[in-house]
Amino acid sequence: MNDNIKILNDKLALAKLGGGQARIDKQHQKKKLTARERVIYLLDEGSFEEIGALVTHRTKDFGMADQQFYGDGVVTGYGTVNGRLIYVFAQDFTVFGGSLSETHAEKICKIMDMAVNVGAPLIGLNDSGGARIQEGVRSLGGYADIFYKNVQASGVIPQISAIMGPCAGGAVYSPAMTDFTMMVEDTSYMFVTGPNVVKTVTNEEVTSEELGGASVHSSKSGVAHITSTNDVECLEDIKKLLSYLPQSNKEKADDIPFELKDEVRESLNTIVPDNPNKPYDMHQVIKGIIDEESFYEIHKDYAENIIVGFARLGGKSIGVVANQPMFLAGVLDVNSSKKAARFVRFCDCFNIPLLVLEDVPGFLPGTDQEWNGIIVNGAKLLYAFSEATVPRITVITRKAYGGAYDVMNSKHIGADMNFAWPNAEIAVMGAKGAAEIIFKREIALADDKDEKLKEKEAEYAKLFANPYSAAERGFVDDVILPENTRRKLIKAFSMLENKDVVRPNRKHGNIPL
Ligand code: HXC
Repeated sequence: MNDNIKILNDKLALAKLGGGQARIDKQHQKKKLTARERVIYLLDEGSFEEIGALVTHRTKDFGMADQQFYGDGVVTGYGTVNGRLIYVFAQDFTVFGGSLSETHAEKICKIMDMAVNVGAPLIGLNDSGGARIQEGVRSLGGYADIFYKNVQASGVIPQISAIMGPCAGGAVYSPAMTDFTMMVEDTSYMFVTGPNVVKTVTNEEVTSEELGGASVHSSKSGVAHITSTNDVECLEDIKKLLSYLPQSNKEKADDIPFELKDEVRESLNTIVPDNPNKPYDMHQVIKGIIDEESFYEIHKDYAENIIVGFARLGGKSIGVVANQPMFLAGVLDVNSSKKAARFVRFCDCFNIPLLVLEDVPGFLPGTDQEWNGIIVNGAKLLYAFSEATVPRITVITRKAYGGAYDVMNSKHIGADMNFAWPNAEIAVMGAKGAAEIIFKREIALADDKDEKLKEKEAEYAKLFANPYSAAERGFVDDVILPENTRRKLIKAFSMLENKDVVRPNRKHGNIPL
């Protein structure tokens, strides 16, 4: 028995060493943690249970029979984060550069199946040179198995991918199909084809960082939802994100105990400037409404004209979608529509109620927008809100103009409660533009055209640049003082807690992609 115990302990000790101490040191020199260190940091102390530590690859080609590493380049298992079960895989760059073999893929698939069957989030920590070159198509098959399972798990359990090293070629498509992609600055990159191929095909000279580093994907492409400065911060970000999410689509996120007391927030009364053309920071409005220090922003540096993120309101986890007047006056454009639509759909999948803060002058005009498909992309957001069955509440803080009024979670597309602040302007377009069109002839005939335009603008503004036309028709349920917004929202979300909407049976809708 003693011999057998020794054999096992020796094997487990080897498994823990991955590709060996020299390669571990190299990983540390690159300011990266090893796969195992990452898993241990992510999970509650002592909670990690490894699965498949003794798996080895099957390939014998290219001298691979003599190069066996226990674990085969990926650490997989389960444990808890703040007491809640999660499944995790972490690619081990010290073993064949974390490259994906047939058995490596099987290990990942095994815990994906468990995560779906049990109903708990799946976290993937990616750090890999891609397909295990020695295995050819067997590796490609392994990737496809994972992709397929990513899709089957989508909307069933939250899936979070952290990119903590290379992620290239078709390998990028697994993270892309999960709910959130996080990246670590300077040490991670993602691209379908690397700099060498780019140079050959397009003659462009570009570094890995310029092509697919964290800053590019968080600001230009929108592929990365969150970026962190190092491995530890990235793992902390995963824990934070998890705190807003339920375990699966069968559950709701945990509430933090809360008692409604005096919830007047006077600071909200003075945020929106009197001049409707003056910008203000919607983050201040969010801060004024939600529980203290509870906002966790997603896609912070991408399409900044819309803000999305998780927050707590009266202890409950909610998703916030808010126009940001500080950027492009808060217009809807291609990227902001896609960003918000994706977020709305995530929240709806996982029973997270939605709060929409609206100050939108309309859709961004121009050839760039039209040629890049503002029609089909704007439709994504309209579709996403219209199909969402979670509790949905809108607060119009200032402008709600044109088609954007309809799109931004209007009553007409199924919002449950719509509030407006007293200075709200709900109309087809701004008073000046409207007056120029409908009073064109009168203005043209006037002696003082500017004076006439001003007069007509005022006439239009009086009729429509306020919330009362909409309130009279019930398109807004209540005009409220900003200082009472928090209280109103806490009560309304609580009232909607048991909302249950049954849609007609169908295979799936056909969101304009
Ligand atoms: C097998 C690999 C490997 C791979 C790296 N290694 N990538 N082994 N298959 N794909 C091994 C190296 O041989 C080396 O082994 C160790 O991992 C570390 O690699 P280094 O090159 O020394 O590290 P570094 O300098 O940091 O460079 C990392 C790298 C580079 C940029 C990822 O290794 C690289 O370019 N690898 C190939 C990437 C690639 O072309 N992958 C296939 C993409 S196509 P030793 O023994 O020295 O430690 C693809 C298709 C997926 O993935 C399709 C899915 C549908």
